[in-house]
Amino acid sequence: MTFAIPPATLASFPQDFVWGVATSAYQIEGAAAEDGKGPSIWDDFCRVPGAIADASDGLVACDHYHRLEEDLDLIASLGVDAYRFSVSWPRVQPTGAGAWNEQGVGFYDRLVDGLLARGIQPYLTLNHWDLPSALQAQGGWAARSTVQRFVDYACRMDRRLGDRVRAITTHNEPWVVATLGHETGVFAPGLKDRRSAVQAAHHLLLSHGLALQALRAQGCKAQLGLVLNLSPIGPATDRPDDAAAARLEDGRLVRWYMDPLFKGEYPADVLQHLGADAPQVHEGDLRAIATPMDFLGINYYTRGVVSARGDWDVTTSGHALTDMGWEVYPRGLTELLLRLHRDWQVPPLFVKENGAAFKDTLVGGRVHDAERTDYIARHIAAVGEALRQGVPMAGYMVWSLMDNFEWASGYAKRFGIVHVDYATLARTPKDSALWYREFLRQQRARRATASTEPVEV
Ligand code: FCB
Repeated sequence: MTFAIPPATLASFPQDFVWGVATSAYQIEGAAAEDGKGPSIWDDFCRVPGAIADASDGLVACDHYHRLEEDLDLIASLGVDAYRFSVSWPRVQPTGAGAWNEQGVGFYDRLVDGLLARGIQPYLTLNHWDLPSALQAQGGWAARSTVQRFVDYACRMDRRLGDRVRAITTHNEPWVVATLGHETGVFAPGLKDRRSAVQAAHHLLLSHGLALQALRAQGCKAQLGLVLNLSPIGPATDRPDDAAAARLEDGRLVRWYMDPLFKGEYPADVLQHLGADAPQVHEGDLRAIATPMDFLGINYYTRGVVSARGDWDVTTSGHALTDMGWEVYPRGLTELLLRLHRDWQVPPLFVKENGAAFKDTLVGGRVHDAERTDYIARHIAAVGEALRQGVPMAGYMVWSLMDNFEWASGYAKRFGIVHVDYATLARTPKDSALWYREFLRQQRARRATASTEPVEV
């Protein structure tokens, strides 16, 4: 099976396009209570009966904390330009305020130096959801006091690592933290209160804007931005009530974040829909949120199809579904990127996560995950198509480097291009990793010769 990307599409990737792989701290590190690390809301949430599908947790995860050198070599073996990782806030500052944990910072120091020694650009995310439990006890993201705690943490991290990392992302997917964490309650901290969710979203955005201002004021050298999970949202039918439901969902997922970040205002239709649950916004908040970014990161997995009469039946789409039950819809990525470019004044865009869970089997040291490779190749082509149509794309990162703790789904869902055997913790590159490595090798060769020869790998 070959996974061809049309030559004209390939030729649209600029020479300095950044290719990478991504992970996050809680999903891979383990060592959840070692070397002075404080508890996070995900440590707590995993203890809630029924919260995690397989009743697992991140205590060991991929044991990345203890296998750093091996994993750095693994990343390097793929030939990527960049590695996106997150810092566990409670590992470096156990209670989210005051005392700093030098052992925890030391781990990220070694990670960053190890990447640079291997010629890989570090892309650091400050908040990939594992808020210190001590801050949750004071209200977490729904409390305005957490905003300043985050800005302080951001500034301290920059003073330690900002001279060596290429980019700092403030938050990963504020919609997930706000909506899944505070409204539907399926993710930590497990609240079911729309008002708190909306307030948490506002505080995440505000802390992002204020952190950017504070980081720039102290001379931060890294590129600064935010990562949003966005999808094109369409109606299931052409009935007016489906169209209205889709418009509202687009408002809550896409415009609720894009409008304040790039226009300095919340969308009027969503504010009206929220009524008394609309957020408390102080004078100057929206100006701070709209602080210009150096890049915007997008995580894309599937599109949204909305029906006013309950969930749309995705199996009727005719498209393949992943093991998450998500529809494989690469064209949605091109559509999304074109819209972002058209409707907002966006800085260079990165796809910071894209990938798929499938049921993998390890046989004789190989995982033949053709569906995952196909998924990745088609989404890379979708990015190339957006580039061809003039969207300023700067990079693409596969989610994920390796199988890991998939939040409320536990370890059953495998997103890695590297297989992890959770009994032995052995890492085995899947066929998709071998394909990506070969694809990147050919990209480098193309860069060197600037050729537009067809690539079939
Ligand atoms: C995203 C998360 C990431 C991973 C993927 C599958 O929402 O940012 O940590 O779980 O989904």
